[in-house]
Amino acid sequence: MSALKFEIVPAVIKDYQSVRVLQGQVHVGPEPQQTYLRSCVCVGFYHPTRRLGALSHITGFSEAGGHSAPAALREIESRLTQHGLRLADCECFVIGGAELARHVFDSAIRELRDRRLQYRELDVLGTFHRKLLLNPQDGTLALFKSQPTSPTKDHDATFSADPALNCFQDRRRRLFTGASLFFRNPELLQCLREAVIPAVLRSFKRCHIWCAGCSTGMEVYSLGMVALDTLARSKQPQFELRLLGTDVSEEALAQGRLGDYALSARMEDSHADLFRQYCERVDPHTVRIGQELRARSSFAQRDIREGSRRHRFELVVCDHVLQYFTPEIQLEFLQGLTTGVRPGGFIYVSSPSALIRDTLLASGEYEMLSRSFYSRRQP
Ligand SMILES: C[S@@+](CC[C@H](N)C(=O)[O-])C[C@H]1O[C@@H](n2cnc3c(N)ncnc32)[C@H](O)[C@@H]1O
Repeated sequence: MSALKFEIVPAVIKDYQSVRVLQGQVHVGPEPQQTYLRSCVCVGFYHPTRRLGALSHITGFSEAGGHSAPAALREIESRLTQHGLRLADCECFVIGGAELARHVFDSAIRELRDRRLQYRELDVLGTFHRKLLLNPQDGTLALFKSQPTSPTKDHDATFSADPALNCFQDRRRRLFTGASLFFRNPELLQCLREAVIPAVLRSFKRCHIWCAGCSTGMEVYSLGMVALDTLARSKQPQFELRLLGTDVSEEALAQGRLGDYALSARMEDSHADLFRQYCERVDPHTVRIGQELRARSSFAQRDIREGSRRHRFELVVCDHVLQYFTPEIQLEFLQGLTTGVRPGGFIYVSSPSALIRDTLLASGEYEMLSRSFYSRRQP
């Protein structure tokens, strides 16, 4: 019979007296302790008569400190020893984790089993943004789970989360997160031309593309122009092509819907044939996206972390977005993005670190085709 009382609470837990356990940290002590779980896993221990609790916030991002399960348990074990306790003397629980980062969760379970420890699984592999509070004094463990948010204010949404969580890698770069260009990433366009279009022509009756974090729409229309051009060259101009651009910034999306862009001569010259074919001229410096491409494109305000509700796309693109965010938020974005990839489809997701690659490959569902570009295996 467990002495620890676990409950899911409806309101955010506010306990300013508690110790905050950050990513990759462990804490052992009698005082209330809290952590934001996000996509990480937490392994905790509780001793009812000594009124002692321990939390570890395991990220899986590195082998150091509390980031990995073995290191976290070693650390807790050594601190419990100072209190004259062993791990096995305490109640143990595992909570949190994300399906996509399942390897982190699995490594925690493996470590507990290797050590032959009894543990309870409490609300694992579920909703993000979970705040957890362990109070060893009254033996309670409370979990607040927020529903996925649909941002209403551009400002708040673009900056993506509670600023206190320091979700951005570099706070100064917030100002520049809307930057975009036509034909910005030749590698992405090459993947579309040489891998995605041939595959959809071969295997699917359509090509639906989701461009997540599309800013003012230039990325959507660049992908659209290249896709239409490649389909025309393959003698399939009527093939079903649809593009969805999503962003949290309604202002950026409004420009995408309008479809008018002031272009430098250099930009226009670099892809003169495509601009001529798929755009109209408004004045000497401005082009308007033409009807053929406009009819196939739509825009919607959506936080990437909400994922795709029902639709599965042949290609999901998220370029120049993740790099502004901390690894934890990157994983949440990845979780949202992968909800939109159909089996046999593709995802292009750029990130400067190896985290995205490692996570996709560890899921066993994705095969890497080139840097940032993956195909989802058929079941
Ligand atoms: C640097 S722009 C990249 C635009 C485009 N992908 C490109 O490569 O040209 C990053 C965009 O991501 C959007 N963004 C940031 N956080 C987001 C979130 N949580 N959900 C959706 N879009 C987000 C920003 O509003 C911004 O328009």
